[in-house]
Amino acid sequence: MTRPKVYIARKIPEQLLSPYRNQWEIEMWPYEDLPVRREELHKQMGQADAIFITLTDVVDQELIDGAKQLKIIANMAVGYDNIDIDYARKKGVIVTNTPDVLTESTADLTFALLLAASRRLIEANEYIKEGKWTTWSPLFMAGTDIHHKTLGIVGMGRIGEAVAHRAKGFHMNVLYHNRRRKPEAEEKLGAVYVGFEELLTNSDFVVCMTPLTQETKDLFNRRAFQLMKETAVFVNTSRGGTVNEEDLYQALKTGEILAAGLDVFQNEPIGKDHPLLQLDNVTALPHIGSATRDTRYQMMKLALENIDRVLQGKEAKTPVK
Ligand code: GLV
Repeated sequence: MTRPKVYIARKIPEQLLSPYRNQWEIEMWPYEDLPVRREELHKQMGQADAIFITLTDVVDQELIDGAKQLKIIANMAVGYDNIDIDYARKKGVIVTNTPDVLTESTADLTFALLLAASRRLIEANEYIKEGKWTTWSPLFMAGTDIHHKTLGIVGMGRIGEAVAHRAKGFHMNVLYHNRRRKPEAEEKLGAVYVGFEELLTNSDFVVCMTPLTQETKDLFNRRAFQLMKETAVFVNTSRGGTVNEEDLYQALKTGEILAAGLDVFQNEPIGKDHPLLQLDNVTALPHIGSATRDTRYQMMKLALENIDRVLQGKEAKTPVK
């Protein structure tokens, strides 16, 4: 019997693939630090029964149309805005993502970024490493308090809830906005549901964790930043597309808000000349929300398990519904 063809669009550790070597005919993009070329993915999708992709790979109608026998697109990410889900569904191709396994790590990073942006940790670290530390002074590197303040979470999914849980340890009040109300989260975490604008007006920290969709594209625009407090810190660990970066730049530059912590950008990767990186009140990270070794291994494992199940005619473990 011929073995199903599986294309792995990024080099991943052999130890994760070896359990499947006998069952699948595996082809793999040979680079870890370089995304697959679109033409190569197009070509491979024309022959593959399954593909393993990462969030850097855009799978649109054209690529899906080129697929002849594709059964599953396994995305190594919880977000799936890189895939034309509706079209894949129409063509009968299952799409899977990697929820749950990254929840806690991403919440940790989100909270770390909130702390770093508020307490100016990266700026202070650069200062000392550049040999600029000469004395102690009363308002030197003075940031803003987190404890007992109000945190506004936009997008109360699993990661949102995990961030709210951490906020409780800092004695924060938690407001949230979500497509649907979550009475369980309200009860468990004492989070209070509010409208989007009310959240912006009343929060000291606004954390964006909503998926990127047509509805959330540019959600954080000029008006949103104007509604925030002048002392507000904005944190984004979802997708860059939820933010209008020009509007954010203006808001940070003119003091409409105090600071931002950004793990994601509209067009990744960004170079050092990106306007937002020129601002002292921006703490920036290169999309590392889920980047711990444990979590990344679990994400890769889960994506492969999804492929395995679908190729065996079983239901995927974590299908995108
Ligand atoms: C990372 O951004 C993810 O969606 O998993």
